[in-house]
Amino acid sequence: MIALLEQRRLALQALCDGEKTLKDRNRLGQFATPTPLAAALSRYALEVLPPDRPVSFLDPAFGTGAFYSALLRVFPPERIERAQGFEIDPHYEAPTRALWQDHALTLTLGDFTAAPPPDPAKRFNLILCNPPYVRHHHLDRAQKARLQRESQRASGVKLNGLAGLYCHFLALSHAWLANEGLAGWLIPSEFMDVNYGAPLKRYLLDQVELLHIQRFDPAAGQFHDALVSSAVLWFRKRPPAAGHRVHFSYGGTLAAPLECLSIPSETLQIEHKWTRFPVFQPRIACTTPKLSNFFNIRRGLASGNNRFFILSLAEMIERNLPRECFIPILPGPRHLPGDEIEAYPDGSPKLDHRLFILACRQPETEIEQKYPSLWTYLQSGKPSTSERYLCRSRSPWYAQENRPPTPFLCTYMGRSDGKRARPFRFILNHSQATAANVYLMLYPKPPLAHALQQRPALVKTVWSLLNDIETSALLGEGRVYGGGLHKLEPKELAHVSAAAIEALLYQRP
Ligand SMILES: C[S@@+](CC[C@H](N)C(=O)[O-])C[C@H]1O[C@@H](n2cnc3c(N)ncnc32)[C@H](O)[C@@H]1O
Repeated sequence: MIALLEQRRLALQALCDGEKTLKDRNRLGQFATPTPLAAALSRYALEVLPPDRPVSFLDPAFGTGAFYSALLRVFPPERIERAQGFEIDPHYEAPTRALWQDHALTLTLGDFTAAPPPDPAKRFNLILCNPPYVRHHHLDRAQKARLQRESQRASGVKLNGLAGLYCHFLALSHAWLANEGLAGWLIPSEFMDVNYGAPLKRYLLDQVELLHIQRFDPAAGQFHDALVSSAVLWFRKRPPAAGHRVHFSYGGTLAAPLECLSIPSETLQIEHKWTRFPVFQPRIACTTPKLSNFFNIRRGLASGNNRFFILSLAEMIERNLPRECFIPILPGPRHLPGDEIEAYPDGSPKLDHRLFILACRQPETEIEQKYPSLWTYLQSGKPSTSERYLCRSRSPWYAQENRPPTPFLCTYMGRSDGKRARPFRFILNHSQATAANVYLMLYPKPPLAHALQQRPALVKTVWSLLNDIETSALLGEGRVYGGGLHKLEPKELAHVSAAAIEALLYQRP
């Protein structure tokens, strides 16, 4: 009977999803939990909850009820004392209400984040939720202010403006969870590494007993229609005991992960990147030098509109644009024939694909006098390019960030299957070309810059040492997105160990 209802629920889900555009579903984070995953969460809850207690269940983002359905299949019916759900969208709520009409479910049509929490005696001892993954860009200023205020009131968690809606769902539901109650959240794993996740991590360590975080392999996305790298987070609402340890698992399934490690709470207090676990061991406090000891690392320049500001040599000639107002810029990594870029005597890179970026800060009136063709070109960028966010915030609007050329560049976005392919490459640039923000630029700091001046041949050694850095060391600092896309921020690359470069600098010539 319940199995049949699940079949009907799945059909309803497909029907409701099919009647909406992907854009609309994105706006409200409408991506359902697959049946096996919902069942796995329910089974986990069955194991963890004390066996003799009745269950009061809440799903604050109900959809068609993937978790409720799983709960009914997994728990003995007599244990389910009450169940409640919130669903904001009548498109899902109305047929869902009809589907579950013969069940003791209270389904509320409305915004969970605006619902007044219940009296403590009416709180729930099991919350299972796949909250809407609505990014902060889609929340307006007033919404953010209200969510921040209410999240703090409910849990003491002070989220910043970059936190997505799912963080607020988690913080707000603190006021709905009974003491000793269990919560299982299916959420993006991003909060484990990024700054906006820090208050949430403090909450998980200080206010509740964080039990387990299972991270799924991002290359094996849990959702067929949303590209996210997801995790399941389990905690109990009670203060953590001294010496508490948290179970981290990765890959496989919730019941049979590929890797596991138990990490002391104190380690998590000082570790800013939780996605290190369980694949990596806790860091040993060490004095190993980092790349930041030898390089200032900056992202390449963000032009504001590459199609307007970056031109090929042929385009410049065709438009009669003055060469002295442009500097060479490297094409994206895909267009580089190799990892070493040679230079022509004038400093421009020896590449088939020769590009130049406008590098002129003179006022338009001067440009009009001196370079009429450039002036005409700039007029063609009005208002489309000149009104873009980056351009508007610069003066003049076509001035570019200052990114002098450097010999060392890193491609900081890439895919890997974990062991074989290298997602990040270090490029040796002998030219005077600058680079756009598809690269990180590594500028040697004084001790290294001095050594390179004294011994120019060192440049190749440093480059090969950079390329010798273990892929796992780079992946351990970076972040990974759905589909196995790895990314390294300047600060993260700066954190990578540079013992070999130090050894090189302090060895005798
Ligand atoms: C990620 S889906 C999960 C649905 C279902 N629980 C599941 O696991 O398949 C999130 C659901 O929350 C709903 N939702 C979005 N914002 C909401 C809000 N503020 N209050 C209540 N529900 C909301 C969406 O319409 C969507 O149905």
